[in-house]
Amino acid sequence: DTLVTISPAQLGFNAVAKNKNDIVTVPDGYSVSVLYRMGDPILSGVAAFANNGTDTNFAGRAGDHHDGMAFFGLAATGNTRDANSSTRGLLVMNHENITASYLHANGPTAGAARLEAEAIKEIEAHGVSVVEVTQSGGAWTYVQGGALNRRITPNTPMALSGPARGDAQLKTVYSTDGTGARGTINNCANGITAWGSYLTCEENWAGYFRRASGDNANRSAKSVVALNRYGLSQGAAGANNWATVTAANTADQWKFSKWNTTVDTTKAADGTGDYRNEANQYGWVVEIDPYDANSVPRKRTALGRMGHEGAWPAPFVAGRKPVFYMGDDSRGEYFYKFVSATLWSAADANATDRLAIGDKYLDNGTLYVARFDATGQGVWLPLVFGTGVLTAANATYAFANQADVLINTRLAADVLGATKMDRPEWAAVNPANGEVYLTLTNNNASNRPLTGTNAANPRHYNDPVGTTNNYGNPNGHIIRLRETGDTPEATSFQWDIYAFGAGADLDATNINISGLDATNDFSSPDGLWFSRSSNAGGLVNPLLWIQTDDGAYTDVTNCMMLAAMPGRVGDGGARTITNTGTGGATATQSTFVGKAPGMQLRRFLVGPKECEITGIDTTPDGRTLFVNIQHPGENGTASNITSNWPYSQSGTTAGRPRSATIVITKTDGGVIAL
Ligand code: FEO
Ligand code: CA
Ligand code: CA
Ligand code: CA
Repeated sequence: DTLVTISPAQLGFNAVAKNKNDIVTVPDGYSVSVLYRMGDPILSGVAAFANNGTDTNFAGRAGDHHDGMAFFGLAATGNTRDANSSTRGLLVMNHENITASYLHANGPTAGAARLEAEAIKEIEAHGVSVVEVTQSGGAWTYVQGGALNRRITPNTPMALSGPARGDAQLKTVYSTDGTGARGTINNCANGITAWGSYLTCEENWAGYFRRASGDNANRSAKSVVALNRYGLSQGAAGANNWATVTAANTADQWKFSKWNTTVDTTKAADGTGDYRNEANQYGWVVEIDPYDANSVPRKRTALGRMGHEGAWPAPFVAGRKPVFYMGDDSRGEYFYKFVSATLWSAADANATDRLAIGDKYLDNGTLYVARFDATGQGVWLPLVFGTGVLTAANATYAFANQADVLINTRLAADVLGATKMDRPEWAAVNPANGEVYLTLTNNNASNRPLTGTNAANPRHYNDPVGTTNNYGNPNGHIIRLRETGDTPEATSFQWDIYAFGAGADLDATNINISGLDATNDFSSPDGLWFSRSSNAGGLVNPLLWIQTDDGAYTDVTNCMMLAAMPGRVGDGGARTITNTGTGGATATQSTFVGKAPGMQLRRFLVGPKECEITGIDTTPDGRTLFVNIQHPGENGTASNITSNWPYSQSGTTAGRPRSATIVITKTDGGVIAL
């Protein structure tokens, strides 16, 4: 190990018990405060949030469904970056989705066509927030009217950048030369860069689009293959029915019509007159400069188009190529990395034209997809047009050029023979040694059948929720990689499985393989993050934080967050497990299992009812922890509220639930979790 020594240490908190309470529970010696809630006004002049369904102007408020998040330090005054500040900064966060029932007085109004006022509220509650936060007297507040405060929504103008910019498949009524886009949606996890920009990732964008029955007849065979591969089969209704709105002002009609990606045969065949290519504008990683409220976000097409979960960097090393790791969150999708073509120059960390630095490192490079082999080794397969099977002669899909490979990344990964994973969610990189962790949140029986496991996705079993059978890999696992030579740009790696989700009561040989107990059993890992290398006096013990988004263990506990001090890839060994399917049928699968986590994995937090825990960062000193609580009470309605969080955090048992950012501090002011 040339890169690091991890010294022995202990997690410095007592585990929180599993529970179904309607509050955030943290260990003794820690406190929770609520910082930034759905609807909170961030622009000057926007009214306080009534939270009764009458509020408007979500383009000036916190959006809904807080998700991936990062803290960007600010100098004590003004708008200048200070990457080391732990008392003033910008919180930048994704607003992935909405709980529509709580956005309107009585939930969405029924009818064949949506009301414009309701649809615009729902649309603007998506996107990204940039909001100033400050600490004073130990308490954190957000600043309404902060000079850099900003909402980025599905309507915000953006630029397309990188190899696919200007491609015929990106030509739209908005951008007839295929160089521009409007908006970002379903922003899930995130990434950061060394030059102070934020990466937001477009995940389940396909679900918002309508595509009429019969649309295939008006498209090329290639176009139909591509649309179907991304979940846009003809007849898809599209979430929220926004395309049914008739705008009062015709200049606003595009905000709604663009969610219907059906070909209009009266319009130009190149897509410049209708919305037939609109879906190709989504599925990208988008770079945002949080320090310039007027900057135009750039969609980085070199990083591929998929259901992007996150885009997390390897450590930036002078003279080496920056690398970003990316999950594609759907059942049976793949794990990717992008290797920049440009060697990292440390001086670029201080540049102020951050998006120009992004052009330098994120617009040229190689996208790879992972194949996990039964040997415990793996290969990064390059998605490069003209090499191997990625040519016009391919029988599955005739690739035209590199833009076509990137716009249809999933098709390219299919033909390369990448490994289908159990829903790849967040990736995290150990700052001490460069090892890469990836959550595989869960899978179902049809996509991970008893005889369809592989070494990297080895389990098939049943975890009943109440009395409902739940076959497949219902509790998920966390896989990890060590790049060959500890070099992020390597084209091969070693892997093992760090931890398997499971209830502590499940079969210890074949299901609860990691030996989880009451202090750390979990299910459906999703959010994943290593503590900043700047805290705790340096690279002593980077903590791995695990957040859950679960439906399989929610009969026992609300979703949670755990902290770990993981070991290293290869510290366990080969295992063969016996899987069991319906009717008692069995099959064996060999795999590689990390050393059991034991006491180095511990539950730190349990969330309120019907929430998911997602999004995490700390201040550089590690003494303030920001966490997002997403969709508390998501199964309720305006007339049947199922959670009162965050009001319940201070004992109030009334009020519609709101997604929110919380602040956790240690009562003695120390570094969190140590
Ligand atoms: Fe938006 Fe994969 O969670
Ligand atoms: Ca269960
Ligand atoms: Ca997620
Ligand atoms: Ca999830």
